[in-house]
Amino acid sequence: MNIGIIGSGSLGSNVARALARKGLSATISNQRGPASLAPLVAELGPTIHAGTAAQAASADIVLVAVRWTDLGAALGGLPVWNGRIVIDGTNPVEFLDPDSPDAKDPCNPLAAYGIKAIDVGGRSSSEVFQTLVPGARVVKALNHLDVNVLAQPEVSGGQRVQFYSGDDAAAKTEVRKILEAIGYFPVDLGSLAVGGRLAELPFGPLSATNFIKL
Ligand SMILES: NC(=O)c1ccc[n+]([C@@H]2O[C@H](COP(=O)([O-])OP(=O)(O)OC[C@H]3O[C@@H](n4cnc5c(N)ncnc54)[C@H](OP(=O)(O)O)[C@@H]3O)[C@@H](O)[C@H]2O)c1
Repeated sequence: MNIGIIGSGSLGSNVARALARKGLSATISNQRGPASLAPLVAELGPTIHAGTAAQAASADIVLVAVRWTDLGAALGGLPVWNGRIVIDGTNPVEFLDPDSPDAKDPCNPLAAYGIKAIDVGGRSSSEVFQTLVPGARVVKALNHLDVNVLAQPEVSGGQRVQFYSGDDAAAKTEVRKILEAIGYFPVDLGSLAVGGRLAELPFGPLSATNFIKL
């Protein structure tokens, strides 16, 4: 199974870092193009390659690590998914310009964090995400922890818990294997409708909870 990563910011680069630490291969991409990734791939070593988003999207398992508001642009025009597995690492939040009115809105409970919840119409965000990747088998994972802890899966004598959820059992098994290979303790939360909602930021009850399996 080869791995592609779309997005090389906080989430994408740290997942690539975690893969590289275990000698696992991946093709990472971003909006600016492969040349912009030269410093990152030089840092991460020979298993991580820079590519275009289309090249990353052609992998057997593709992590989408872009902001919710960029999903339409990032996922438009990619090769047909044709049953490939897509890991939804996103959360339905908008990152706010500190000078914008939203950043100072007293009705925004997340203003202090510089973000705002995006209304996904009562569904789990991954059910909405699924509509943007028709034909893909979506597994939600790698979204619930801050990147400051995400890249260290083995800590305190144990393994950091990584939640995952999805509607295709075989796809979940493949993602579970990758999470285990990175060093996490994967915990299956069920379907996208149930598990996805439990772990999605900003309001999922398990979002940002940092469990360690001892
Ligand atoms: N930050 C966290 O702690 C964290 C933790 C878990 C989940 N998440 C979720 O992960 C997602 C990404 O967050 P982040 O913090 O990593 O954001 P980020 O640091 O802003 O990185 C976003 C990445 O997306 C790329 N991108 C934007 N538009 C694109 C396009 N059209 N095609 C290809 N790539 C495109 C950007 O490319 P360029 O570099 O070329 O601009 C950048 O590499 C969000 O949905 C967030 O909610 C974040």
